[in-house]
Amino acid sequence: MIKPVRLAVFLSGTGSNAEKIFSYFKNHSTIEVAIVLSNSPQAAGLQRAVKFNLPTRVFSKTQFRESDKVLAWLKEAEVTHLVLAGFLWLIPSNLVLAYPHHIINIHPALLPKFGGKGMYGNKVHEAVKAAGERETGITIHEVNERYDEGKVLFQGKCPIHPKYSVEQIAEQVQRLEHAHYPRVIEQWVNEPK
Ligand code: GRF
Repeated sequence: MIKPVRLAVFLSGTGSNAEKIFSYFKNHSTIEVAIVLSNSPQAAGLQRAVKFNLPTRVFSKTQFRESDKVLAWLKEAEVTHLVLAGFLWLIPSNLVLAYPHHIINIHPALLPKFGGKGMYGNKVHEAVKAAGERETGITIHEVNERYDEGKVLFQGKCPIHPKYSVEQIAEQVQRLEHAHYPRVIEQWVNEPK
């Protein structure tokens, strides 16, 4: 029998990508969101999860980095894959070891450019603009113990004009994210690892 795919979605903030994922897999025949986790009780993405009747968990830095609490929740929910959707903390080695090649992230630029610690949200788009780039985009990649360094699974590009504001760049990139992330997750979980 094929093992059902059960996703854990990690988020730290708005959760617009997470919502696209909840919606895409809501009535999916083989893949479901099993649990939604956050480091921040204020994360708007948690409210979105509640609207989809998904169980949520919040954890502290100590629980995340220095205990197996989160891993225990994942095991209890029979999670098979971890999906990072705007999650800001580095994934600790206990989770990387428990889910090798089974953790995915989305980054709002064309890695390896504009990645690494501290490169998130508008900081990325500001750096892209300051560098005078003529295109930007999204990178969906596997996660290891270093920021933004796992195997690249998908990149999508969009042209940018030097006159674009940071907000305009962000808007273009977000459109790409919403259009591609759920579909790339669907393909990735079905690929042999
Ligand atoms: C996205 O730009 C994603 O690429 C990055 O964090 C942002 C999250 O946005 N990792 P949202 O919370 O999904 O709206």
